[in-house]
Amino acid sequence: MANELEKENAAQAAMDFVEDGMTIGLGTGSTAKFFVEYLAEEIAEGLVVRGVPTSEQTRRLAESLGVPLVDVEQVDRIHLTVDGADEVDEHAQLIKGGGAALLREKIIANASDLMIVIADSSKSVEMLGQFPLPVEVTPFGYTITAKKVYDALKKAGVLKPMINVRTGPGNKPIVTDGGNFILDCSCGAIPEAPLASALLSNIPGVVEHGLFINLARTVIIGSDDGATIFEY
Ligand code: 5RP
Repeated sequence: MANELEKENAAQAAMDFVEDGMTIGLGTGSTAKFFVEYLAEEIAEGLVVRGVPTSEQTRRLAESLGVPLVDVEQVDRIHLTVDGADEVDEHAQLIKGGGAALLREKIIANASDLMIVIADSSKSVEMLGQFPLPVEVTPFGYTITAKKVYDALKKAGVLKPMINVRTGPGNKPIVTDGGNFILDCSCGAIPEAPLASALLSNIPGVVEHGLFINLARTVIIGSDDGATIFEY
């Protein structure tokens, strides 16, 4: 079960990586929210940083807290990104996208000098795949794309993928910040995550997927009385 105190402690520990003058990717979700709040507190006390939000939700949060933002198209360097995860394994491989922000999250993480994952202990897993893997697809042809996603997951060792379009109010597909749909792929386990990542990336209609391989270099897992930092 997710633990709010663990999330908060992980977010607080990530503040040790923040330095004056940095441009910082701001993740999305309830754990990243704690980080943005800590950042806002330090900014109020004189810290000078700029944020690059990974979603409209985080943009609104940061603006409401007075965190200065920079347009992603104007950024020449992102020193650090701090973001949550739905699952993290012992190789710092992640499943992300529970909050439907995976496309911008991956673009920003990939452009950063360092990606730090902050998470409560429930996110730490031996093998990825218990959490349904989000795959962002174009609305055009999404049922065709879903079949190709199924084939790719089977090839990557998933025994029985179950794929559902993520829906919201009125049972309509939710639309991401990028104007796309999300396929939630229940896998049970993804034995070959790097292979799954490569195969999914190759499917026309797949805009991005929630497997983050070789992106996170630091993982901070919160506990009730602090946090443990793992470097990769
Ligand atoms: C959003 C994400 C989030 O980082 C992930 O869903 C974890 O969220 P939370 O911190 O609320 O558990 O990937 O797209």
